[in-house]
Amino acid sequence: MAKALEIEKLKVRVTGKEILKGVDLSVDYGEVHAVMGPNGSGKTTLAYTIMGRDGYEVESGDIRLEGESILGLPADERAPKGLFLAFQEPPAIQGVRFSTFLIAIINKRMGARDLTTLKDPRKLREIYKLLEEVGLDKSVLTRELYVGFSGGEKKRAEMLQALLVNPKVVILDEPDSGLDVDGVRKIAELIESLRKNGKAVLLITHYPRLFNYVEPDTVTVLMNGKIVARGDSDLARAIEEKGYQAVANVA
Ligand SMILES: Nc1ncnc2c1ncn2[C@@H]1O[C@H](COP(=O)(O)OP(=O)(O)OP(=O)(O)O)[C@@H](O)[C@H]1O
Ligand SMILES: [Mg+2]
Repeated sequence: MAKALEIEKLKVRVTGKEILKGVDLSVDYGEVHAVMGPNGSGKTTLAYTIMGRDGYEVESGDIRLEGESILGLPADERAPKGLFLAFQEPPAIQGVRFSTFLIAIINKRMGARDLTTLKDPRKLREIYKLLEEVGLDKSVLTRELYVGFSGGEKKRAEMLQALLVNPKVVILDEPDSGLDVDGVRKIAELIESLRKNGKAVLLITHYPRLFNYVEPDTVTVLMNGKIVARGDSDLARAIEEKGYQAVANVA
């Protein structure tokens, strides 16, 4: 049976340069698949390509959601199919309150036409509950989206959206970067809860420290746009000890 997300022999060009050079991987519901690799290896490119971002040109290969290719779909039709990306570096959006943004997500999820109204107190209750779950203060709600947010606040806010959107496949691009020890543990707990809730989680990170708290089902190592190793959390531990170069070509 088809898995939640399957990537097959994917080659991708960005501004004419080949960045991904034949990537295969899959993740199923209730699984965490970690993608690791040094800076510039193509991890974020993979995430953006899955989401259908402009400028990420698929040269060959396929991306399938529940067995169906999504390559022909524009970005705005992919997310509603059940894909969510938590950004490595989410951009600040001036003039949009965080609360307005979150309510728009709830309304959209409910199929409402007016995407900003807040009439139902259940919406606010859901948001308050999630703020507590991710460890963010209520005061962030009245602030503009990501404007002046600390690195850790941004990561928590991205996780909050992942929980709110309730997608099938969650792609987390370095959800632990810039976080303190408690923050890393919190993010790990949230990843575990996504897995328990049956989400397919593609977890991009280059620090194995997250795996002190989350046990990935599969670890794939990307270097220079190619998969150079695949294994389980032992592979992540080997990377911690010996570095990326040493584990390359294990697969
Ligand atoms: N829009 C772009 N134009 C030109 N080159 C790009 C573009 N986007 C990505 N690249 C290049 O593609 C390569 C892979 O970048 P990518 O951001 O996917 O790496 P990464 O694995 O996510 O790195 P990091 O761990 O630093 O986040 C890099 O060499 C980068 O400079
Ligand atoms: Mg990146």
